Amino acid sequence: MAESKGPDESIYSKVAHDQVDPRHYGAVAMPIYQNSLFAFENHESFDLAMRDVLSATVYSRGNNPTVSYLESRIAELEQGEQARCFASGMAAIASTLHALLKSGDHVVCVKQAYGPTREFLNEMSERYLVEVTYVDGSRLSDFEQALRPNTRIIYLESPTSGLFQLQDLEGVAKLAKKAGVLTLIDSSWATPCFQRPLTLGIDVVLHSMTKYLSGHSDCLGGVAVGQASIMNRIGNKGYMLFGGIMTAHTASLMIRGLRTLPLRMERHQKSGLAIAAYLEDHPLVNRVNHPGLQSHPQHALSRKQLDGYGSLFSFESKLPVPVMKRWADSLRYFRIGVSWGGYESLVTVGATPDERNPDGGNPSVVRLYIGLEDTAELIGDLEQAWLAAANEPLEPHKPDETQELAR
Ligand SMILES: Cc1ncc(COP(=O)(O)O)c(C=O)c1O
Repeated sequence: MAESKGPDESIYSKVAHDQVDPRHYGAVAMPIYQNSLFAFENHESFDLAMRDVLSATVYSRGNNPTVSYLESRIAELEQGEQARCFASGMAAIASTLHALLKSGDHVVCVKQAYGPTREFLNEMSERYLVEVTYVDGSRLSDFEQALRPNTRIIYLESPTSGLFQLQDLEGVAKLAKKAGVLTLIDSSWATPCFQRPLTLGIDVVLHSMTKYLSGHSDCLGGVAVGQASIMNRIGNKGYMLFGGIMTAHTASLMIRGLRTLPLRMERHQKSGLAIAAYLEDHPLVNRVNHPGLQSHPQHALSRKQLDGYGSLFSFESKLPVPVMKRWADSLRYFRIGVSWGGYESLVTVGATPDERNPDGGNPSVVRLYIGLEDTAELIGDLEQAWLAAANEPLEPHKPDETQELAR
């Protein structure tokens, strides 16, 4: 198991320290501006505000003080100029792609990107004649070879959230800049604690804030961060035309989640690495996909561009999928469910349609999310499930399970 740097100490002050804002009576927690519109003392100030509805407080679909406070906090953590917060990660991703692409443009996207992201790009391709090339992305040459004169965007997700493959962010950013192409990355897994892609030359960072940034499995959200000029385009489309802005109430939950982000990430990282190492040594496990393990083919790259590791990873078992599904049923701490980033450990067996890449993916992959529970108890839980699975007779597969194995 590798040692990692962990979150930079300065991030603890960034999430805990606020400038005192006299408008809020010195309130230490940002109030929730639970209102749709803002009234003006006279028409002149109203007319002035209407010229910039993304900065002035006119209507909460363009700007809400609680949401814009959250945006300023995330921009600071990502070391970007501006952020735009959306109702979900997909709202942020789809609004960004839609705002930056037009018919005839070409996108290069990593094959293992989150399923609905690829579906959205495919939709853009069918309906708006945007061309899309999917690449493996583990070599720089994959991107170089895919570039065309009309390439507008390179879309990255590093690490990917099914098989945890990385892309060389600095390398891709350099070649994209040379070709005049924008680079976007879904960085939900690493959070700004462990990866700051803008400092490596990437243009736009995207997060599903539903995951680690909120951290409590109680709300949905997404964010795009980058240069103000790009963020204004995304805001104009995504907020004003699609109406995708995050609500003030959700922003307040997100602000609360951010306060403990580095603390949670330190714990997730430690526990995730310990459990990945335990599984790597297990006789019923073929391989573990965790970039923090020395056995990961891109471990050296992970040490170069990540300051630490998220606690979502996958492994391939030697047992067949139906047995592994019963293995998951017998777990006591790990709940069966999608998503990740909250306090509770989770498991899914078999690649979901989201994780299955266009080449077919691997249905025998088990994905584990390590929450905040006692690490030893989580390992004990996995151990009792292995014992139960090893003692099970290997029944013939039911028809639906056979089909699943064949997929
Ligand atoms: C890597 C990744 N990106 C984006 C998303 C989409 O986020 P949301 O569910 O908040 O729309 C998810 C959700 O599972 C995800 O795992």
